[in-house]
Amino acid sequence: MLPQEIIRKKRDGVVLSEPEISEFIAGLTNGQVTDAQAAAFAMAVFFRGMTMPERVVLTTSMMLSGNQIEWSDSPGPVLDKHSTGGIGDNVSLMLAPAVAACGGYVPMISGRGLGHTGGTLDKLDSIPGYASQPDIALFRKVVRETGTAIIGQTSDLAPADKKLYSIRDVTATVESIPLITASILSKKLAAGLQGLVMDVKTGSGAFMPTLEGSRELAQSLADVATGAGLPTTALITDMDEPLASAAGNAVEVMNAIEYLTGTHRDPRLHQVVLALGADMLLIGGLVQTLEEGFKKLDAAISSGAAAERFQRMVTALGGPADLMDHPQNYLPKAQVIVPVLANANGIVQSIATREIGLAVVALGGGRTRAEDGIDHSVGFTKLISVGTSVSNDTVLGFVHARTQTDAEAASAHLRRSYTIGDATPIMRPLIHDRFQGKGL
Ligand code: URA
Repeated sequence: MLPQEIIRKKRDGVVLSEPEISEFIAGLTNGQVTDAQAAAFAMAVFFRGMTMPERVVLTTSMMLSGNQIEWSDSPGPVLDKHSTGGIGDNVSLMLAPAVAACGGYVPMISGRGLGHTGGTLDKLDSIPGYASQPDIALFRKVVRETGTAIIGQTSDLAPADKKLYSIRDVTATVESIPLITASILSKKLAAGLQGLVMDVKTGSGAFMPTLEGSRELAQSLADVATGAGLPTTALITDMDEPLASAAGNAVEVMNAIEYLTGTHRDPRLHQVVLALGADMLLIGGLVQTLEEGFKKLDAAISSGAAAERFQRMVTALGGPADLMDHPQNYLPKAQVIVPVLANANGIVQSIATREIGLAVVALGGGRTRAEDGIDHSVGFTKLISVGTSVSNDTVLGFVHARTQTDAEAASAHLRRSYTIGDATPIMRPLIHDRFQGKGL
């Protein structure tokens, strides 16, 4: 069928058939469908939506547009976690090695920072020598030998998504749940996983700020992935304040190393790591109950087994062999590190979390255009949480900046992001909801 006829049907609210969707995506991949047609299709889906079975076909067609990684020789279940993105969200850095220490195999393909949110790949690039884009043979070897490898997206996985996403990005069609679902999951399916846990963030620092939108996305991700043959559970976790007390790149790696070695462990972060990890172990059949998963994971973290896995992964990918012992010798440090004082009395009521992400971008720690370089050393540390009592000289956090001028601007930005008042704030739950995928 002609691409314009498929677009017309979707424009008029007709449910598309399997061949119509797969032909359209094949055409997009081989160039027979033009960018203009892809944009019109995306806009038609944006307004008309897609049924769950249509979403499954869109996702699998996009997955089939490129290579698929195969793990049939894996000694244990091949599992992954994917987050919709946030601030101080360095969960992957501790979760992947912790699950590996519990018998899972975690080939984690992660992305760069997007808008105000940080990206795991940028964080890992602050480790000197770490090969974040290895070839597939090295990726497979490291996963097999250490239980995990966290690397960047390769262009041969779901190329149709790459093409469609770049068109959505400039045609105001990113915020469509069927398109987001297919975009995220086509890459996860192509990675050959056997179980997936989705971390759908909600709150002021999330890509999907409302709980209602996050629920809709979580349900869609869990059901479509499971319907496409990848058992998936989605948790909705809070992003109404930074998750770790650090936000940036090297500072978040340092926070993760402190977490893994037990020097400092942010309590909210720890709860999210345990919740996501317990579900990963359950989906992989490594435990029988969530409670057992929590215990097993907690033991892997507190015994140092997860830290050891992280070090082995870093070494295998070319990073320093003593990173966990001497991270300060390797991670880039900012020229200027200054405390930001609260200049107010009261209790932290709320944190405009997106603003903190934007402040990291303004410091040079994130990008405004995909091709921009970033400064891995900048960001914030020791950020205090909602509910903390403060007085004038309480430190809200430390700014790590390239220059004094940047530090002053970031300090003002941070102070504006914190609302301090007299009321006792209503504390939001950390885990808002959980969806287990239903087969379609
Ligand atoms: N992340 C993705 O990979 N795709 C989307 O569409 C949105 C977020």
